Parts: sequence; structure tokens; C-alpha cells
Amino acid sequence: MRGIAALSYLGAAAALVSTVAAQSYNDIADIHVYGQHFFYSNNGSQFFMKGVAYQQNYSPNGSVSANITYSDPLADAKGCARDIPYLKQIFTNVIRVYAIDPTANHDDCMRQLADADIYVIADLGEPKTSIQSDDPQWDVSLYQRYTSVIDALAKYKNVIGFFAGNENVSAGNQTSAAAFVKAAVRDCKGYIASQNYRNTLGVGYATADVPTRNDLAHYFACEPDNSGNQTQIDFWGYNVYSWCGNSTYGASSYGERYDFFSDYPVPVFFAEYGCIEGVDGGATHRPFTEVEVLFGNMSDVFSGGIVYEWFMGENNYGLVSLDGDSSVSPYPDFTSLRNQLQSISPSTTQSSAYTPSNSAPSCPSTGSAWEAVASPLPPPVNAQLCQCMASSLECNVKSTDETSYGDVFDYICHANDDFCAGIAHNASTGDFGAYSGCNPKEQLAWVANQYYLGNSKSSSACDFSGMATVQKATTAGGTCQSLLDAAGTGGTGSVASPTGRGTDAGPAASSSSKGGAPGMSTPAFFEHGSAIFAVYVTIAAISMIGMVAL
Ligand SMILES: *[C@@H]1O[C@H](CO)[C@@H](O)[C@H](O)[C@H]1NC(C)=O
Ligand SMILES: *[C@@H]1O[C@H](CO)[C@@H](O)[C@H](O)[C@H]1NC(C)=O
Ligand SMILES: *[C@@H]1O[C@H](CO)[C@@H](O)[C@H](O)[C@H]1NC(C)=O
Ligand SMILES: *[C@@H]1O[C@H](CO)[C@@H](O)[C@H](O)[C@H]1NC(C)=O
Ligand SMILES: *[C@@H]1O[C@H](CO)[C@@H](O)[C@H](O)[C@H]1NC(C)=O
Ligand SMILES: *[C@@H]1O[C@H](CO)[C@@H](O)[C@H](O)[C@H]1NC(C)=O
Ligand SMILES: *[C@@H]1O[C@H](CO)[C@@H](O)[C@H](O)[C@H]1NC(C)=O
Ligand SMILES: *[C@@H]1O[C@H](CO)[C@@H](O)[C@H](O)[C@H]1NC(C)=O
Ligand SMILES: *[C@@H]1O[C@H](CO)[C@@H](O)[C@H](O)[C@H]1NC(C)=O
Repeated sequence: MRGIAALSYLGAAAALVSTVAAQSYNDIADIHVYGQHFFYSNNGSQFFMKGVAYQQNYSPNGSVSANITYSDPLADAKGCARDIPYLKQIFTNVIRVYAIDPTANHDDCMRQLADADIYVIADLGEPKTSIQSDDPQWDVSLYQRYTSVIDALAKYKNVIGFFAGNENVSAGNQTSAAAFVKAAVRDCKGYIASQNYRNTLGVGYATADVPTRNDLAHYFACEPDNSGNQTQIDFWGYNVYSWCGNSTYGASSYGERYDFFSDYPVPVFFAEYGCIEGVDGGATHRPFTEVEVLFGNMSDVFSGGIVYEWFMGENNYGLVSLDGDSSVSPYPDFTSLRNQLQSISPSTTQSSAYTPSNSAPSCPSTGSAWEAVASPLPPPVNAQLCQCMASSLECNVKSTDETSYGDVFDYICHANDDFCAGIAHNASTGDFGAYSGCNPKEQLAWVANQYYLGNSKSSSACDFSGMATVQKATTAGGTCQSLLDAAGTGGTGSVASPTGRGTDAGPAASSSSKGGAPGMSTPAFFEHGSAIFAVYVTIAAISMIGMVAL
């Protein structure tokens, strides 16, 4: 039961907020990273995040189903107008959004937010297009999605930056996904620079509170040689639910985290916080006693945090409920949070009085607990290279049915590892083919062509049950030829990063990179041993005679 009295009080407070000076997203002071802290770029004051996760009906850690849809909170001007007065009551100066629609118009919300001095941090993925924990890739469809979100939000000066990954490493056997996320960080940073977007736009990663968290933090902040490419994150988000109810600095492990991050080279903040377990009175009664500590004596190391979350949903973390989508009803913990945030006064520093002293940590060494090498990372995704390659082939794939690709990959890679070297992507060995970032159809075409060439261009070697067909190869010239030369005849060379807009080279052939080249990290590909693979092998065995009559 939510108190009526509290509501009318809050309504009055909301009216007060509308007196702030109006400013647009063009003239709000942007936030920049310097050493371990965030600063306002206009006056060098330190910036602490008093944030809220702001996306309705969205479970960022949910399993990915092809049917998940999302609604873009920054495209909902009415929702922004409804919520901003309440967000201001809890001193919100940043919201985190998890999935935006890059084709939507965000001007209205972004103007309203700027007007209320509220900044935005946006995740780059969306449920159907993001780096998968168990089958990580960094490929054309992901690159185009991530860069299109950057394109959509770059012009708003109240955007602090982006998360190239959120909890993509959640289990001990998923550490190799970190290599693909770090490649995404590198390419997104490179993209921001290549488009001459403002250099205060940052790219970071948000981790769950998992056992590999220390290795993860070091991995993303370390700077091995990567051909001069910047691979270090700009900030580190920490999703932490360890302070429940009346916890303490010690019991919550906040103390340990403070010690761990005290020599971290980039800003750290809680990218989600607000445990609902063990709270007197239930989930909606969180006391938020951690606020005093987070913005108190932890504030020389942590840059504040983002409470999870604004909207009430199935998981019960909401601070408010909506009455018929038109009015906002805060829960009791909204009031606790407000009271806590009201009484903080973190000691701030001026950028002019601050000299960063922390240096990049060393990269974690690989072994059973940490599998991803820090260098080389997966190669820069280059859609133009993939297209040049596909037109240069003599045997190309015509089938677009990705679910049938698995058995062909299986057959070809089994026939000869070398045919698949160009699409290998093994993060623990750092073994990446030049075409490993191409979409599944292009990858399959590459290996089919390798197979065809390797079998003396016998016409039966380019059929695969009718999925492939010989084509007249286009003679590459100019840029295409130099890209193909760099990739080499076996596809194992290294190719430069793309220079144009992320979507210049045309749309990705597929937005669901799932059916394509599952775990193509030859030769261990066959050791995956999942049920799906067993099926592929069976099908392959049965249909092989018809598929390739050699
Ligand atoms: C610096 O600028 C920001 C944004 O305009 C403002 O909120 C803050 O109070 C300023 N700091 C000082 C010390 O004036
Ligand atoms: C997602 O996170 C919530 C807490 O935010 C947790 O209760 C739930 O178990 C998580 N679900 C998965 C699938 O990890
Ligand atoms: C997704 O939606 C389609 C069509 O609406 C349905 O047939 C399918 O079962 C759904 N899949 C899942 C995993 O919910
Ligand atoms: C990690 O282990 C889980 C459960 O055993 C399994 O489903 C998943 O595929 C594994 N992931 C990787 C990348 O091996
Ligand atoms: C991986 O990170 C992206 C970007 O933050 C996020 O959208 C996505 O949900 C994450 N994927 C998984 C499986 O956690
Ligand atoms: C937490 O502290 C408050 C205020 O001191 C007290 O009323 C409440 O009973 C405590 N809750 C628990 C679970 O100890
Ligand atoms: C921070 O404050 C907490 C609670 O007030 C206290 O237990 C802890 O020792 C303090 N930590 C530091 C580093 O001063
Ligand atoms: C980044 O690395 C690639 C090779 O992977 C190289 O082609 C490119 O020139 C590098 N970029 C910079 C800015 O050094
Ligand atoms: C990567 O290669 C190593 C060494 O060949 C192998 O042990 C490992 O299983 C491979 N990883 C994957 C994900 O296939």
C-alpha cells in the first residue's frame, strides 16, 4: 500500500523542480573522463552519478529469445515528461537506458532531460543483437547495430557514453566473451574518433558481481600492444547487489571493492545497485543505507551509482509504479532514496587540482580461470572487406537459411582445418581469421570457396545440397583488392579498420548471427559437444553423399 499523503507531498515538490533554467542538449556542459573521475567540461567540477536505470519491461540479464521486443524510453516524449519531475525529486542526474531504437527520433526526450540537467548512459546492444555470452562474436551485424546507436546519440551533449557490454561474462566458463566485448570497445572508440564525434563520448563495460570480476576489471583496463588501437575502456560499471537492507561496509564487501578499485585508472561507478533481498517490509521498502557510504567515504574512488530501477516490473525492483501509464506513484523506497541522497555531500575535487596517478593494470594471465588473451583481439569488423570477399569468390552460397549452415561448416572444417582458418575465432589462443567478423552467409561462402579451390574446382565441390553455386568472380580493383590482399589467400592476414559510417557498406545480411558459424574455432569446434552439434553431425553423415559427390 503506497501512502496517499506521501503522494500529495511529492506532487508539490514536483512543481518546484520546473523552475530550473532551461537548457538544450546543445548547450548543456558535457561530462568528460579524466583519470579516475568524471568532470563537468565547462568548469572542471567533479561529477558524481545519482542515477536510475530507466527502461520499462526490460530485463537486461534475461536470456535472449528471438521474440523479445523492447520499447525505447528515449523515444517516448510523454513518458519523459511524466517521469522527469519525479526523477528530479531523487536528485537524478543520469539515467541508464538498455536498448534504444537508432531509427527513432530522440530529440524531444533528450531536450527535456538536458533541460533537467539529466545525462544518459546507453547500452549499445538490444536483445536480438548483442554479444552472446556462450557463443560470442564481434561481427558485421553487431558492429552496424552498435555504431548506429552511436550515430543516433552522439549529437546530444548530455550523453556521457555507452556500454559496449553488460554482464556478457556471467559464468566462469564465459570469460572468452570478454575478448569480443573488448574488440567492440576498441571499434566503437575508433568509430567515434573516425566520425569526429565529440571526444568526451566514452565507451565502457558493466559487469555483474561475478567471481571473475577482478580479472574482468583488469582485462578491460589493461593496455597491451594492439597496433596503436585504443582498447582500454573509458569507465567501468559495476552492477552490485551485495548491500541488502541494513548491511554494512564490511558485510556488503563494499570495503573490499573500494580497496580493489583504489588504483584503477578510469572512473568506476555502480551501474546498478539496490538489493531487494532481506528488506524489512519487502522489496519496495529498501532503506538505501548504502547511499551514505557510496557517496561518503567511498567517493574518492567511486563516482556514485545508478539505482536499479525506475519502473516496477516482474522482478520487483521498481521505485515507482504507473497508474494507467499516465501518472506516477512512488513506492516507500523512493522516499528513502530521496532522503538518503538529500543528506550526502561527497567531497569533490576540481580537475585543475587533480593529477591522475593510477596507471593501467597488467592484463590477466590466461589459464583455466581466465581464457581471453588481451592481444590479439578479434579483428576490426570491416563490412566492406566481407562484401569484397563475397564477390571475389568462385563458389558462393545462395541459401539464406542459416539453420542449415551448421552441417556445411561442420563438413568443410572437418575435411581440412585450413579451409576454415579465415573464419576461426578462438579468444584463448588469439587465433582469429580475417573473415571471422563477416556475417554467417559470407563466412560460409568463404569456406565453401576454399573447399572448392582445394578440390580442383570440381563442380561437385560447390554444391552442398544445392546451397552453393559457382559464380563468375568479380575482378577486384582498388580498395577491394588491397583489402583482399591484406586478408591473404588463406584469410589469415590482418586488415585495417573501416573508415566510413558503420552502415556504409550496406545492411548486414542477417541480424541474427545465431544460426551461422557456431563456435567456429577450429579445430576444437568439434569438442563443443552440444546437442545441436550432434544433430548436425548426424544430418551431415546422412546427407553427405547427396551433398558433395566427390
Ligand atoms: C559546474 O557546472 C555544473 C554544470 O553547469 C554545475 O552543476 C556546477 O554546480 C558547477 N560547479 C561549480 C563549482 O560552479
Ligand atoms: C536477473 O537479475 C535479477 C536481479 O536483478 C535476478 O533476480 C535474476 O535471477 C537474474 N536472472 C538471470 C536469468 O540471471
Ligand atoms: C516466437 O514467436 C513465434 C511467432 O509469433 C512463435 O511461433 C514462437 O514459438 C515464439 N518463440 C518463442 C521462443 O517464444
Ligand atoms: C558454460 O556452461 C553452461 C552450463 O554447463 C553451458 O550451457 C554453456 O554452453 C557453457 N558456455 C561455454 C561458452 O562453454
Ligand atoms: C551484452 O552486452 C550488451 C550491451 O551492453 C547488452 O545489450 C546485452 O544484453 C548483453 N548480452 C548478454 C547475453 O548479457
Ligand atoms: C534496519 O534499521 C532500521 C532503523 O535502524 C530498523 O528499524 C530495522 O528494524 C532494521 N532492519 C533490520 C532487518 O535489522
Ligand atoms: C567508511 O565508512 C564506513 C561506515 O561509516 C566505515 O565502516 C569504513 O571503515 C569507512 N571506510 C574508510 C575507508 O574510511
Ligand atoms: C588498429 O589495428 C589495425 C590492425 O588490426 C590496423 O590496421 C589499424 O591501423 C590500427 N589503428 C590504429 C589507429 O593504429
Ligand atoms: C581454442 O583453442 C584451444 C587450443 O587449441 C582449445 O583448447 C580451445 O578449446 C579452443 N577454444 C574454443 C572455444 O574452441
